Amino acid sequence: MTIRDEAFALLTANRRTTDGNIYTVPSPEMYPYQWLWDSCFHAIVLAKSEPEAAVAELRSLVSRQFANGMIPHIIYWVPGQLHRYDWGTDSTSALTQPPMLAYAAWEIYKETQDDSFLVELYPALLRYYEYLIDKRDPRDHHLAGIINPDESGEDNSPRFDDVLHVPVDISREDHLKRRVELIDANRTCNFDAELCMKRHFWVKDVPFNAILVENLRILSNIASLLDRKDGEHFCNLNVDLVSAAMRERLFADGVYWSAVAITDYEPLKVATWAHFAPLFAGLYTPEEARALVDSQLFNEDTFWAPHGVRTVSKQEKAYRPDGYWRGSAWMAPHWFIYKGLLRYGFTEEARQVREKSIALIERSGFREYFNPETGEGYGAHNFTWGALVTDMMDA
Ligand code: GLC
Repeated sequence: MTIRDEAFALLTANRRTTDGNIYTVPSPEMYPYQWLWDSCFHAIVLAKSEPEAAVAELRSLVSRQFANGMIPHIIYWVPGQLHRYDWGTDSTSALTQPPMLAYAAWEIYKETQDDSFLVELYPALLRYYEYLIDKRDPRDHHLAGIINPDESGEDNSPRFDDVLHVPVDISREDHLKRRVELIDANRTCNFDAELCMKRHFWVKDVPFNAILVENLRILSNIASLLDRKDGEHFCNLNVDLVSAAMRERLFADGVYWSAVAITDYEPLKVATWAHFAPLFAGLYTPEEARALVDSQLFNEDTFWAPHGVRTVSKQEKAYRPDGYWRGSAWMAPHWFIYKGLLRYGFTEEARQVREKSIALIERSGFREYFNPETGEGYGAHNFTWGALVTDMMDA
């Protein structure tokens, strides 16, 4: 079987239907639920081959939207399904994840040219992005805050060590304990973002906001297509405001750094792949992008490893090639970087990221994360993110 065939067979094997809700689990053994950004990745991949399944996946996601507009990062569809951790409420988590929904919806439309699904989904999409702009930014600084590292999708990334007050050599288990403590703290403020951020954890994360900018841009296209002038205006305005705020508050020394909001944007100076995420949204000038790619991405002493892109620079004390989000290579960052490189016309560099991604899957299969120095696969088996290579092969 080719990688493409294997990827689609995996997405089919991981597809579930519960009470008519169709979704794909990221890994049957380790992640048997629906996850927000994972489902967006699934929809992006399925858009070309099985757009109905892609539509169904997003429809299931938005069906559990909260009254305030938030879309939860996990949905436990099977009643009474055992959760390993309690992320807030019974049937869903009370956190969100990087907002890739508009992007995924647009990928489906690009393939089908059928806007009926967009008409159906649009109100939920708009409410979700309004929530992020409004409730996640109580001081009106035009940057969305996250209330827990898991909202970044990079659970134990060392970007958050200072805010969590954890040591650089913390084990994965101790890190999880710390995040569960944070969930308990978040519970005391009812997961109300404003209160929780002010009291416990308030980070303006670079990938989250870069993904927000690009998704607002796409939601603006959707609004324009559907002739929703107010929505289009809201999106365009916030594309400009969030981009400008990222520049003003998160940019230093040629790169974007995540920052602690409560201390007035003290940068979290740990070099991670977050530096490259703004390429995805076109937030660097062409000259800055060129310099960043040459000096950091393709630098073997920092991010460029024999088997992939390190999620944390090799120069960081926290760097661990087998350390989950503390240095290992992951397919989603590879995919974001790939798209970012293409956006700037760096096709040869993009090709190299694609080749490394394909080689990792060929060598180690559809694993959750990989040792960038040796190519060894770790964590969940039958993990769906590897299917993103099919999208890289098509682009
Ligand atoms: C892990 C990842 C997260 C992902 C989830 C389900 O927690 O860190 O980004 O969404 O697994 O695959």
